[in-house]
Amino acid sequence: MKYFSMFLLTILLSACQTEEKQEVYKVSSPNKEIEVGFGLSKSGEAYYSVVFNKKVIVDTSSLGFDFTNTKSFSDSLMVVNTETKSFNETWQMPWGEQLDVINHYNELKIQLKETSSLKRKMNLIFKVYDDGIGFRYEFPEQENFKEALISEENTEFNLNEDYKTFWIPGDWDIYEHLYNTTKLSQVDAISKRNHPNLAQTHIPNNAVNTPVTMVGSDGIHLSFHEAALVDFSGMTLQVDTENLDLKSVLVGSENTEYKVKKIVPFETPWRTIQITKDAPSLIESRLIVNLNEPNKIGDVSWFTPMKYTGVWWEMHLGKSSWDYGMTQDMSTWTEGGKSNGTHGATTANVKNYIDFSAKNNIGGVLVEGWNTGWEHWIGFEDREGVFDFVTPYPDYDIEEVVRYGKEKGVQVIMHHETSAATETYTKQQDTAYALMQSLGMHAVKTGYVGKILPKGEYHHGQYMVNHYNNAVIKAAGYQVAINAHEPIKATGLRRTYPNTISREGLRGQEFNAWATDGGNPPEHLPIVAFTRMLAGPIDYTPGIFDIKFDDYKKDNQVNTTLGQQLALYVVIYSPVQMAADLVEHYESRPDALQFIKDVGVDWEATDVLDGAVGDFVVIARKERQTGNWFVGGITDENSRTIDLDFSFLEEGVTYKASIYKDGKDAHWDTNPTSLEIEHMEITKDSKMTLELAEGGGFAISLMK
Ligand code: NOJ
Ligand code: CA
Repeated sequence: MKYFSMFLLTILLSACQTEEKQEVYKVSSPNKEIEVGFGLSKSGEAYYSVVFNKKVIVDTSSLGFDFTNTKSFSDSLMVVNTETKSFNETWQMPWGEQLDVINHYNELKIQLKETSSLKRKMNLIFKVYDDGIGFRYEFPEQENFKEALISEENTEFNLNEDYKTFWIPGDWDIYEHLYNTTKLSQVDAISKRNHPNLAQTHIPNNAVNTPVTMVGSDGIHLSFHEAALVDFSGMTLQVDTENLDLKSVLVGSENTEYKVKKIVPFETPWRTIQITKDAPSLIESRLIVNLNEPNKIGDVSWFTPMKYTGVWWEMHLGKSSWDYGMTQDMSTWTEGGKSNGTHGATTANVKNYIDFSAKNNIGGVLVEGWNTGWEHWIGFEDREGVFDFVTPYPDYDIEEVVRYGKEKGVQVIMHHETSAATETYTKQQDTAYALMQSLGMHAVKTGYVGKILPKGEYHHGQYMVNHYNNAVIKAAGYQVAINAHEPIKATGLRRTYPNTISREGLRGQEFNAWATDGGNPPEHLPIVAFTRMLAGPIDYTPGIFDIKFDDYKKDNQVNTTLGQQLALYVVIYSPVQMAADLVEHYESRPDALQFIKDVGVDWEATDVLDGAVGDFVVIARKERQTGNWFVGGITDENSRTIDLDFSFLEEGVTYKASIYKDGKDAHWDTNPTSLEIEHMEITKDSKMTLELAEGGGFAISLMK
């Protein structure tokens, strides 16, 4: 509902000096380009608006909450007090896309109180940055409000343009949908129900999950998300396709009338809008991490960013199995990956990955299927008590494997698939993390395939948000870092808990192995870079060299060129970056493998050189310690010419460059492995033109 037109708001803005009741309070970004206005309607309803370079981005939109145990917070509000402040700091990421992060904003805090008999209090805090805004609700300690059983949050984002929108449905249980590109008025989340390859899915409204990214006709880029999602449920955005409005819809539970339970005082996560002039600036924006609190766990130097290989793709291809038992009919969550009775996680097989990794400057090996429970882990209801996180199968000597890894300088990465049986995992966490600590293992990949147990909960509800966050906090005590699959979305908590290293939370590479819908199309990652990646690090598991893998799966393939698979090590950010293919596939392409061997994983600087959402993106990153630069570029199903300018390089330095680019005849489908490699010297003044094939990409290493 629009209470005021922007025209009226303008009148109010000028009237605010004379009229006492309906003030409009304003706060703008340090560079003055973004301005947030806050006001109250005659009946005391709170509203806000956002203007960018004089253009109204969010028209007057209301704010409020409904509860099951008390009256809604919606009207009869008055402003008790307002405070403004400016803040400017530079903080350092222990690992990340860059070392120094500037956190510079202006803040407006509005203290509100009901004029009605309850006189409850609610504050709103707006932080306005040069790259967007964040706002949150705060409920201070008070007499007539002790417990909040929230049935809905009513935060509106009233837009006034039919933006080109890049969205996935507002699924309460999974983010592993393909992105859709439509006008905002054409968003149809309900049509995305019943995908055959999703282990769990629940799409109750015509809503989208965040980050959702929009491009305006005048080139304005917007991305809506949230920051610091702590002890709350995830927010989806319901789309009113007629009025072009978004409205918060919180993820709920089947077990309670309310969606979120809080004890007053409390504050909500930040509701965020990244607002930029172009696509590259969206990726460079650090709004989401900046809105999170500083590091609470201290030194995390025990975690080292690393590339890793693993006993993983071979199971997704069906070459081996997670389970050890002779079950020929293991029910998995997909058609693919069915057991053939050949256990993958054996001591000998893992040692082979360790040897390969040690030879190729790869720091870790992930081992899935090492622990008991995989004979019967998914596809039935009562899954509590199935997995055990400390008992290896008899053909896997975990101590020997870890010892061997240490000898070779390679870490073994732990795997905890929970099959979403959260009580079993919670119970075993201390023992499981203690085992890791005793073995000197510092990273674990967790998994939550299937419907959440306890029944009635969803992956993105308050119960699970707390489960994921508690796991990270508990793990920190054992010097363990977590890479969660089937996670809650990233909301920048890696700043507060830097042992939150990476996560899935998107349609990953695995879908190319077994999805029955053709896998991830060439446009997938050129969309992901401007949507999902704005939330935080992605464990996409790139680097598939045997693009067609006809020896294993005739009907599936990766829908990119080999050049693009290499580019992903730079384009997709994660402090743990998998070289996902089989050892034998890498050994047959030593020319391309050289790039994986050389490429960094921990960055001092990131420079997004070019890009258009859904079409292409080119990113340059400077490695910490060495000062080497790496550049990656990817395109969608269209071939493309990219003009590169190396002015980001250091003055006076000549770099030894290797360029890995699509061969002239390359094509994601007809000739995906055609790759040309060139070596040359490059300086700050160099220029280069590159031709990207359909579904193609390029990768460049620039070594000092
Ligand atoms: C789903 C994860 O995304 C995948 O990487 C993993 O191999 C399986 N679950 C088994 O845990
Ligand atoms: Ca998954």
